Parts: sequence; C-alpha cells; structure tokens
Amino acid sequence: MRNIRNELNEKENINKKIAFILALVCIFLIFIDFLIISLIFSWTDWVALLIFSLLFIVPAYLANAGMVLIGGGKPVDGGKNFIDGRRIFGPGKTWKGLIRGPLLIGIPISAAISLLFIFLWGVIEPIPSEGIMNGVYKYYNSMIYFRYYFIGGRPDDNLIFGYLTIIIRIFLCAYGAAFGDLIGSFIKRRLNVSRGNPLWIIDQLDFAMFAMIMASIPSFILPEIFLPLDILIISFLFILTPSVAILANTIAYLIGLKNVPW
Ligand code: CTP
Ligand code: MG
Repeated sequence: MRNIRNELNEKENINKKIAFILALVCIFLIFIDFLIISLIFSWTDWVALLIFSLLFIVPAYLANAGMVLIGGGKPVDGGKNFIDGRRIFGPGKTWKGLIRGPLLIGIPISAAISLLFIFLWGVIEPIPSEGIMNGVYKYYNSMIYFRYYFIGGRPDDNLIFGYLTIIIRIFLCAYGAAFGDLIGSFIKRRLNVSRGNPLWIIDQLDFAMFAMIMASIPSFILPEIFLPLDILIISFLFILTPSVAILANTIAYLIGLKNVPW
C-alpha cells in the first residue's frame, strides 16, 4: 500500500516537472516569436499580434475554465465503451460542462468584454490609427485588423453589425473549445490514458485548436466580413496556449477545483 502511494507521488512529481518545463519552453518560444516578428516586421506588430490573439482566443480559455468550474454530473458518453472496450470520452466529460461551460461562462464574459471595447473604441482607435499613419506597423498596417479584433466588422460597418459578428465568433470559439476538449479525451482514451492522467501537448492544445477551426468556419463562407486567422496569430496561439493552460490548471489545482495540476 505504502509503495503504491510512493509510486503515485513519484509519478505526480515527474508530471509536475514536465508541466513546468513545457510551460518554460513555450515562454521561451514566445520570446523567440517576439524576436522574429520584430526583426521581420516591427515590435509594434508583435504587440498588436499579442492583443489580437488574446481577443480572439479568450472565449476558448474562459469556456475551458467554465467547464471545470461548473462541470459534473451525467457523462457525455453515458458511461458507454467504444469498440476497443475503453470509455468513449470518460467520466471527466459531462453534459453540464460541455453545454454550460461555454453558455454560462465563456460566452457571456467574452460578450461583456467585447461590449466594453465598443464603449472604449473612441479612446482606443486613435492609438493604432496614429501608429498606422506614422508607419510603425509593417504587417498590421490597416485599421481593418484592429477594428475586426476589437469590435468586429469592417471600418465602415455599423457597431451593431460588428458586435453581431463578434458574438458569432465568440460562440464558435467557446463551443469549439468545448468540442476540442471532448475530442482530446476521445484520443486519450484510445491511447489508454486514463481520466485525469496527462497526455502532454494534446491536453494543452486540443481545445484551442478546435476553437480556431470552428471560429474559422465563417471566414470560409464570408471572408469579407470574417477575416481569416493569419499565420502569425495561429502560430502565436500554438505557443501561448500551453503556458496559459498549465498556469490556469495549476491555479485550479491550488484552489481545489482539480485534483491534478494539469
Ligand atoms: N469537465 C466536465 N465536462 C467537460 C469537461 C470538463 O464536467 N465537458 C470537468 C470535469 O469535472 C473534469 C474537469 O472539468 O474532471 C477537468 O477537465 P479535464 O482536465 O479536461 O478532464 P480530466 O478529468 O482530466 O479528464 P481527461 O483525462 O479526459 O482529460
Ligand atoms: Mg485533463
């Protein structure tokens, strides 16, 4: 009994170390990203990139946190096994988390943040607009980007229409995250990783990847209104998300929401 305990503790300590190293590696990559973007374009482009990326992905981060906060109850797979004899998704994926995490936390908080930006737009707008006039941006050198990520729509669209496009993006991003988290668990069960045990990289990126994919659907249909995510934002989110996910899970662990810090 004692040996099993020790072994578990040892495994947990190793995983804590892996989490820490992965977070550090990603922070290092963020720094490299900063250097590359600054060299090719300018450091102000990198700052814009950071802001756009956050504005885009926050609904996914919040939906993910929401699932942990208010999840529980009936599992999505109804306790059933897949053809390989293992659970389809496992007991950690519940209907409550899947539906209510985005609906009650991810979407409303993100919608409120966007509303705040609409009210503040008069104060925010002159900053990038002056920067563009002075040529400080080499890549994001048009108000189209700033307008789109802050308040939605194109520079001449009306505010309500813009907000509507933001709500659509938030909805797809939040549910994309919930769906991606589910797919991640499906993959984990197929690889025989039991509930709560880590599958590094997949665990940290599944939700953000599907958030990006789902929120990109409107861009394929109406690219004029919904700007497609550019490669700078996609690559930045791939290196930002693991650190944020590990930090968020560590906090959830410390305040007792999760049993493990990953
Ligand atoms: N959660 C939920 N419903 C979801 C997703 C998450 O109820 N659709 C809750 C569960 O209580 C879960 C917790 O959030 O235990 C943490 O989520 P996560 O780390 O993704 O799940 P794990 O329990 O680690 O399971 P897995 O091994 O499948 O990732
Ligand atoms: Mg997990």
